[in-house]
Amino acid sequence: MTDKLPVLVTGGAGYIGSHAVLALADAGWPVAVIDNLVTGFRWAVPDTVPFYQGDIADEPLLARIFAEQGTRAIMHFAGSVVVPESVADPLKYYHNKTAKSRALIASAVAAGVPHMIFSSTAATYGVPDVPRVTEATPQVPINPYGMSKLMTEHMLADVARAHPLNYCALRYFNVAGADPAGRTGQSTAGATHLIKVAVEAALGKRGHVDIFGSDYATPDGTGVRDYIHVTDLAAAHVLALEALIAEPARSLTMNCGYGRGFSVLEVLDAVDRVTNRRIERRMQPRRAGDPDSLISDNGRIKATLPWVPRYDDLDTIVGHALAWERRLGEMGRG
Ligand code: UFG
Repeated sequence: MTDKLPVLVTGGAGYIGSHAVLALADAGWPVAVIDNLVTGFRWAVPDTVPFYQGDIADEPLLARIFAEQGTRAIMHFAGSVVVPESVADPLKYYHNKTAKSRALIASAVAAGVPHMIFSSTAATYGVPDVPRVTEATPQVPINPYGMSKLMTEHMLADVARAHPLNYCALRYFNVAGADPAGRTGQSTAGATHLIKVAVEAALGKRGHVDIFGSDYATPDGTGVRDYIHVTDLAAAHVLALEALIAEPARSLTMNCGYGRGFSVLEVLDAVDRVTNRRIERRMQPRRAGDPDSLISDNGRIKATLPWVPRYDDLDTIVGHALAWERRLGEMGRG
């Protein structure tokens, strides 16, 4: 059993971060959150978890949090996440993600915080021409979002060589679903992610779902993605943290996906199945920058961590996303 060290979660009021907070708290880790609440929600963090509203680049604030909480590990989720916005406003992304991550890492180094987990992304691979993406697949991002994450991966690698810090970069594929117990989920308005959009349509919050392209080189012509349940992803973070603590000289970079893909049509069929209704679908032209197919090779994470996905079933992912969408409605928040 590894020691359960105090963890600071940046972006802990956001979608993936709030699930990581629950995973840590459920497993008995001391956990605190920093979030600027620009896209996150205070209510997404349990009242029992110390919460700091602020900026991850605020070095005096970080020094105070580390001192108050005795922080020994950081899970870093904070940042903007909208790919088209990163194309329209690249400097926002290089500021918000790259520059602020640099400041956060500097605070960690200054305080001697020895472990960091970084939420990276399959977007760092760009448009790979392999059926399954391994960690060795070249990273050629096609947008500032992916590039800003890749730059942070490089910073962490260099810092880990120069200072007593090890890190784990987890490259997420398409994250979806919600806490099975209904405590948190994807709550930001104006979502663009397929499963969120589809469950909103299923509940009448929008009239239809656009299908962006039906001429891709995939079995049914629509885009194929590797959808991973956010709770399985959060569990991977906790296991990765245990691995960093157990081997302080080793850093890790791992894909987080299930290693299988579903098309847009298959996802919409699953939503129809789960709701027993039919969402209106509208064919549209391709969206700029979308690869045909993006599926992980998850051999490395499976070989490195005792990670056993519990929710790797499309209908389960959709069912949890749907339950959360209903809950948002009940709370008057969606
Ligand atoms: N899609 C539609 N209609 C929609 C929304 C999406 O047809 O209304 C399609 C897309 O064209 C794509 C698939 O559904 O084929 C998935 O699209 P998402 O927008 O849900 O997700 P992306 O694959 O574009 O991107 C996501 C995250 C990024 C992350 C990336 C990893 O948004 O943050 O996965 O590759 F970087």
